Amino acid sequence: MSTAADVAALEAAGVEPGASPETWTALAGEVLRGLLATPKTLPPKLFYDARGSELFERITELEEYYPTRAEAALLERVGADIVATVEPTELVELGSGSSTKTPLLLDPIASSGRLERYVPVDVSAAALDAAVPSLAERYPGIAIDPHVCDFTSQLDRLAPAAGGRRLVALLGGTIGNFQPVEVRALLAELRAVVGPGDALLLGTDLVKDPKVLEAAYDDASGVTAEFNLNMLAVVNRELAADFDLDSFRHEALYNPTLERIELRLRSRRPQVVRIEALGTEVTFLAGESILTEISRKFTRESVERAYDDGGYRLRAWYEGGGYALSLGSPRR
Ligand code: SAH
Ligand code: AVI
Repeated sequence: MSTAADVAALEAAGVEPGASPETWTALAGEVLRGLLATPKTLPPKLFYDARGSELFERITELEEYYPTRAEAALLERVGADIVATVEPTELVELGSGSSTKTPLLLDPIASSGRLERYVPVDVSAAALDAAVPSLAERYPGIAIDPHVCDFTSQLDRLAPAAGGRRLVALLGGTIGNFQPVEVRALLAELRAVVGPGDALLLGTDLVKDPKVLEAAYDDASGVTAEFNLNMLAVVNRELAADFDLDSFRHEALYNPTLERIELRLRSRRPQVVRIEALGTEVTFLAGESILTEISRKFTRESVERAYDDGGYRLRAWYEGGGYALSLGSPRR
């Protein structure tokens, strides 16, 4: 599936891309490559249709899932310091989701008298649609410029900085959902939107007791299991596949060597799944899995290394509740 003609043919056959043709075509390619690979993988951005975004919000409220609360507490404590250090006039937020924690940055920027623009960027149109109206009401004097796009490949859609300084935030530990080589590429790519004097703000979950980590990703009420399985419902809808969700089970294990939680969907039985839009069938052995997400856990040293590899220097480090926020500046 690589051309507009392919997309048109699929649409004529009743398969309806939910995203723009380019985005959908790229996604179809990623799904095909991932399911043909050994072991099988699917990209985590597939979690976030309207239902997935809703489920993620429920995850953030779970007793076991501490990162959101830890990050919010840290932002409350150090948000003003971050703003005083960077003196931004605009906030670009990558993977902004519900933007629930965003006021913890926008308020101190507004108090500094410099706030001009907020640019939320997310693949989930549903999340942006839900978040933007209340932000527009809360910050009436500023420009809000949402973008539904993939921040790993479509940041050229962003308007250039208006002249002042930019704070580019990637919160929630989302950077941990990328492999080291992808982080390196993303940080290098981000240098196009983080100019001299601008800063990158990263939220990173920290290495801790594996029991705490595994509970956070396998909660007792089964919300994370539903979130994980919802990815198959997304593939069914977007690519006319026939995954039977009951035939897979959620698994969350900490890998201490790679310092990451690994989320998988494990096939309960041997089965063949038809993916109509890709014109292919995928065979699963009993117990075979799809790696749906990694969630890397960091130390100050590994964050520093990531900045270094991506062409940044660590400018500030704030830590609390087993979680960290850090500011990075592009190295010239
Ligand atoms: N920042 C929020 C949401 C984190 S959930 C918080 O801290 O709570 C991760 C968010 O990133 C989701 O809203 C998801 O839709 C978005 N996302 C994941 N991969 C993305 C990508 N490649 N491009 C754009 N958005 C992405
Ligand atoms: C969005 N991201 C940082 C979350 C995480 O913790 O890695 C996604 C998530 N997956 C399962 N629970 C939460």
